[in-house]
Amino acid sequence: MLKKGFPDDFLWGASTSAYQVEGAALSHGKKASQQDIINKDNYEKRGFATAEIASDHYHHFKEDVALMKEMGFTAYRFSIAWSRVFPDGTGEVNEEGIQFYRDLIDELLIHGIEPIVTLYHYDLPWALVEKYHGWLSREVVKDFEYYAAYIIEEFKDKVKYWTTINEQSIIVQFWTQKCFIPRELQSNHQLRYQINHHMNLAHAIACRLVHEKVPGGLVGAAIGYAPVYPLTSKPEDVMAAQNAHDLHNGYYLDIYFKGIYTESAMIYLESKGLAPDIEPGDMELIKEGYSDFLALNYYSSECAKACLKEEELRFAGVNWTGVKGAMDGHEHQPGFFQMCPNPMLDTTDWDWAIDPTGLEYLLRDISMRYNKPLMITENGLGAYDTLTEDGKVHDSYRINYLRDHVRSIKKSMDFGAKVLAYCPWSAIDLLSTSNGVKKRYGFVYVDRTDDDPKECTRIRKDSFFWYKKLIESKGEDLE
Ligand code: BG6
Repeated sequence: MLKKGFPDDFLWGASTSAYQVEGAALSHGKKASQQDIINKDNYEKRGFATAEIASDHYHHFKEDVALMKEMGFTAYRFSIAWSRVFPDGTGEVNEEGIQFYRDLIDELLIHGIEPIVTLYHYDLPWALVEKYHGWLSREVVKDFEYYAAYIIEEFKDKVKYWTTINEQSIIVQFWTQKCFIPRELQSNHQLRYQINHHMNLAHAIACRLVHEKVPGGLVGAAIGYAPVYPLTSKPEDVMAAQNAHDLHNGYYLDIYFKGIYTESAMIYLESKGLAPDIEPGDMELIKEGYSDFLALNYYSSECAKACLKEEELRFAGVNWTGVKGAMDGHEHQPGFFQMCPNPMLDTTDWDWAIDPTGLEYLLRDISMRYNKPLMITENGLGAYDTLTEDGKVHDSYRINYLRDHVRSIKKSMDFGAKVLAYCPWSAIDLLSTSNGVKKRYGFVYVDRTDDDPKECTRIRKDSFFWYKKLIESKGEDLE
């Protein structure tokens, strides 16, 4: 078989998100986002760092872009903080806030790095939560349109690649971490799917705006995606894995590419009273806002088995401690499927299954089903790193993880998958969504702890030098 390898125009880079990396959360005209509030609570309850300083990228962005250039990046995926640009969600723009993104994008372009911009990465302006409970209300869709139209207009001549909303499927699972949900509403699980419907409308509007305003622009959602394997070859488990795929994956991809809700998933949700309310005209809008590509965030695969009808409805658990085996539960969708650990796979310290083959599987599977270009916009190993006395970080475990996943991408391309970019998580260390800063992903070590932001000094890890060589060799030098 002819091995094609990575094409010359393949985009090599890495990703971050605004609230996890920027800091300057409540200064320079920015007001709070829901993540500033959620992370303050995480600090008080669990001692995880807040988003206030994060990796202080706001003040270090030139140094950070220089490090990206040194690694040879040709792309960088990052998000814009809505509440930095519109501190109240709508209305007056914060000139200093938008200037930060102008400067960042110019800095990237000067260094030949293609910006891949995400419009929304979990950080809704807090003002909109106070006004109408944020994503719980349909009102958010028009405010998102106002914000997205402004950003797309501002950067239409400089940004070609746009991703709309980060990880809707993950928001449904972990809604109290990704959205602020008042305690009294947390037992109403239909709202998870209602939020998702509002996001589908917002996503479609953003796609339409990119198509209207950006010459040659390409737009898609960034989805947290895991292929689902059956626990055993028992037909009931195989059926459960199909059900889980329909509700976790198909339910989003069918919206983005076909403009429909996956029927099996919808029938199940209706039978449980969980289906979203859909208004006349919604599905037409969703169809009109089609995606050009799919941005995939892949960390691990999932495993499912049959679930009795009598089981109680449950959603995914979290490992809060970073001690293997401390994951506090798995999703149960009664009579449809239940998630479970995969005994065939090793896991990270936070119980995420490590499965490079899963990446090859999903790239081929999605290519075959939808025939659209794909980007990897997240992939990485959350791990404890140690800074040695002579200022080094020997993260061979991260190199092994990334190398195996790059091999899988290559294999999937040899079998016909069209992959445009590899942007692992994360360009530099940053605040994890659920585990503070001690769980690290970056090529660059940011010297701080959960308790002490110190100076946030940047230190190149061993994986930095490995990735640089990989990019130099256009994906050939994997050793
Ligand atoms: C993805 C998110 O789900 O996973 C990122 O888009 C996140 O924001 C990443 O940081 C890793 O998850 P965590 O919880 O380890 O930070």
